[in-house]
Amino acid sequence: MRIRLLVSLLLFASVVVAVAQRISTIVTNPAADASTGMRISWAADSAGTGVMYRLAGVKGWRRSTYLPPELATRCTAFDSIFSRNARGEDVYEIPTLIKCGVTLRHLHPNTRYEYVIVDSHRRPLSQVYSFLTAGAMEWNCCIISDFHSYTPSRRRLQSAMTMIDTVQAYRPIDWVLHLGDVVAWGGSWSFWERLYQERQFRNFMWAGVQGNHDYMGREKGVGSNDFTRNATYYPANGFPEDERLTYHFRYGEVLFLMLNSMTNRTTANISKAKAWMRQVVRQARASQHPPRYVVVCQHFEWFNGRTGQSMDYSRWSETFDELGVDLALGGNNHIYARTDAVYQGLTTDGSNGTVYLQTSASDNERGRTTSTLRENKDLIKRRWTEGKNTIGALCMEVNAQRILLTLLDRYGTVVDTVSVKAKE
Ligand SMILES: [Fe+2]
Repeated sequence: MRIRLLVSLLLFASVVVAVAQRISTIVTNPAADASTGMRISWAADSAGTGVMYRLAGVKGWRRSTYLPPELATRCTAFDSIFSRNARGEDVYEIPTLIKCGVTLRHLHPNTRYEYVIVDSHRRPLSQVYSFLTAGAMEWNCCIISDFHSYTPSRRRLQSAMTMIDTVQAYRPIDWVLHLGDVVAWGGSWSFWERLYQERQFRNFMWAGVQGNHDYMGREKGVGSNDFTRNATYYPANGFPEDERLTYHFRYGEVLFLMLNSMTNRTTANISKAKAWMRQVVRQARASQHPPRYVVVCQHFEWFNGRTGQSMDYSRWSETFDELGVDLALGGNNHIYARTDAVYQGLTTDGSNGTVYLQTSASDNERGRTTSTLRENKDLIKRRWTEGKNTIGALCMEVNAQRILLTLLDRYGTVVDTVSVKAKE
């Protein structure tokens, strides 16, 4: 009898182990002020998970702080989406997931922290993640976009992550800024799961904007803001319909305004985004600590990199002139292009105006070739691509005098630099 009881107990224990909670898609996003707050995003297959965090370097978790998620809802956005699994087979994905998010507050500036996702008994369910809060007088980040991570083949993701390492070898980076199209199909939950397994997500804060690929599913006509919204946990300080996709955050002396290109495709929505931007910039400039720099990020490009034709430049430049935006970053075009500072349609000496810059591709698969520049020849100072097989990213170095942007190729060779002066 006793043996039978022991056997059934052992069987029960193995079942418990088999159904241990599964955590995925852990990522550190900034809070509205990245010097004192971070927002942790993850997904669990059952309820009861939370975060334990501590100062980096402290041994053990006994003196750590525990926080339950402030957001924990069953997410159905990815249910029954047609996709492809890692073996390249056609599948309909039906993930069971509870989308979780929590804001860490009252953090020390310029300080590295570590955290783990834990179960209801505060047992670790994840590896150790870490991030550095803003607050250093000088800091660097990596700017990357358009790697369209595709789970059946690891090559694109590997190209981009290696490129981040290349930027890190050029200058130690504090965090990663992406300009969208990080996954090939945002509707495929497994693609987000695969992306976030990379080491670069364990060591850095990531801030980004939604790209058209992040918004779409494999099937034509499938698209939703809820894909990116449930794979991230950005600050809820955008305008109501676009909450947690349009957002702003402060990183040191820089105010970052993050736009959602997939929302800003109609005149009505662009007006809404501009009104939001005006209010955020004016409020920040009137505050006790006005930002030294204002940087706008979005996915869509400012210019057609092949011909030079104005794209979103013509939609936004008047507003950027009005608000004194220092730097406008875009992606999507897969051809690097940038101006010097531009004000009212003319290149300036840098003492006023906006530098417009759009990134190249970084996946070695979906780059584009250039052709003869026909428009905006006076504004576009540099273009770069390696054709179909392009890998590039930028290092952004910020101090009180300037923002220095350096484009690197896959070998870490400097291709282009542009400096954005601090305005008087
Ligand atoms: Fe793209």
